[in-house]
Amino acid sequence: MSIYNQDKLTQDVVGAFARCSDERLRVLMTSLVKHVHAFAREVDLKPDEWLAGLKFLTATGQISTDKRPEFILLSDTLGLSMMVVALAQARASGAVQGAMAATEATVEGPFFWPGAPEVPLGADIAEGVPGEPTLYMGRVTDVDGKPLAGALLDVWSGDGDGKYDVQLSAEPTMKARGRLRTDAEGRYWFWSIRPTYYPVPDDGPVGDMLRATNRNINRPGHIHMMVSAEGHVPLTTHIFVAGSPFIDEDVVFGKRDSLVVDFEAHPPGRAVDGREMKQPYHSASFDFRLAPVPASA
Ligand SMILES: [Fe+2]
Repeated sequence: MSIYNQDKLTQDVVGAFARCSDERLRVLMTSLVKHVHAFAREVDLKPDEWLAGLKFLTATGQISTDKRPEFILLSDTLGLSMMVVALAQARASGAVQGAMAATEATVEGPFFWPGAPEVPLGADIAEGVPGEPTLYMGRVTDVDGKPLAGALLDVWSGDGDGKYDVQLSAEPTMKARGRLRTDAEGRYWFWSIRPTYYPVPDDGPVGDMLRATNRNINRPGHIHMMVSAEGHVPLTTHIFVAGSPFIDEDVVFGKRDSLVVDFEAHPPGRAVDGREMKQPYHSASFDFRLAPVPASA
């Protein structure tokens, strides 16, 4: 009985891409084929398992919308998003991972919504949003500590109940989102709420996968930031709330120790930015360091 030569099958498929004139596309496709074939052989993939995988990917596509990007969630929960982030930051810094002076990046996640309102320094971007008020403040500098004036911070988070605005209704309006620019000394400050931990959307195929594998479905409390300044590599990152539940088992593997910040509790009174607070509040300080754009870029 002849058995199809498995090595020759892989070579034939790789060979079928030989005429691809886009060199990078050819590299991506042939490497993908080699790894997918190796995966099938390693686990001795059965036909019903293969079909279940295809149905899972089909369902992932069918539930996806621009406000419910299930494939991003799949990538996030498999750690692929964080791997791409880590590769990009290492490439941009020209340094090995862990030896960088720039602030660590982490995943963008599925809830970024471009076009948040531009607000002045000191604004409250979460008026009417449930949660404990928090004053966020710090500086944006280059990797030598030189302040970057006019750097743009694009900020977003869930509310104090762990819900993002896009999850609250079918036709959501923006909440707890804002864009602001640093002052001449590179300083920023604004008010929002202290975000709490939250489960990733688990009513779709990714949720099924997480439950079937007995995984945690939660992310620790965090606020998202995109920080950019001319001549510098844009940074997508979070500030994580120290002591938050799930701080050590982030379902998307995005938590970095260097991004964990103590949220200091304050009684009612005058905050350092002069705002009179009638209720208790928190403050969180964090400085962002941006890497210069590499000379070859
Ligand atoms: Fe988030």
